Amino acid sequence: MSKLVVFNWKMNLPILSSWKEAIKSSTPLFLKRRGGEVIVCPPFTHISKVKELLKGKEIRLGAQDVSIKDEGALTGEVSAKMLKDIGVSYSIVGHSERRHIFGETDELISKKIKSAIKNKIKPILCVGEKVKTSKERAWNFVKNQLVKDLSLIQATSYKLQATNLVVAYEPVWSISGGEPAKKVNPTHANYMVGKIKFFLNTSYKIRATVLYGGSVNSKNIKSFLKYKNIGGFLVGSASLNRKEVDYLLKVIK
Ligand code: PGA
Repeated sequence: MSKLVVFNWKMNLPILSSWKEAIKSSTPLFLKRRGGEVIVCPPFTHISKVKELLKGKEIRLGAQDVSIKDEGALTGEVSAKMLKDIGVSYSIVGHSERRHIFGETDELISKKIKSAIKNKIKPILCVGEKVKTSKERAWNFVKNQLVKDLSLIQATSYKLQATNLVVAYEPVWSISGGEPAKKVNPTHANYMVGKIKFFLNTSYKIRATVLYGGSVNSKNIKSFLKYKNIGGFLVGSASLNRKEVDYLLKVIK
């Protein structure tokens, strides 16, 4: 199965020239050997610049968020339609930082999912429990998020398909960590990814790609790669570092 690697720069910029070098040397290998896909999600202001930088590199562009509407009096928002216009194909939706720092609700997230799918922007829907807990509780929490976040798609004519949705399982407590206390046991990640896949398959009849995210880096990537169920990775902090990017694209298979 080909893997997806999503680099989420958040509100940061790596040293662009150095990042470009890492991508230039590793991506063709990654794409050829693994048949995977590489997506980079810069801040909105730098999407066009990154597009220019990666011209001809077969890297897809993603946004970190998307509006609920196509246009209108919504100060500060950027719509899926606008993103499509500048060549963006994916958008992260419902990232835990949006949920917990900016108070985004499942209701709002469901509207964003709908708007993205309507405009042929593939949402990368982030779900994950807030605190470290039992796997049963974690799954109940995530299942509830999925049901709510996908509710509008079920209720409208926009059909959910494996080709228009990616889900990223990101336990909130593991994000931007690197600290031992925040380490996710890869078996837990694999359990949750399996549950999400099974749920999407039985309830929505889709075989969606489900990623793992949360402090993925060169030190722990191999422990996650043992699990074939994991369809790829959403990488934050490590995506700002040339050596990390280079290494991740070399070992992910
Ligand atoms: P991290 O971020 O890799 O720094 O934990 C992942 C994410 O928040 O998407």
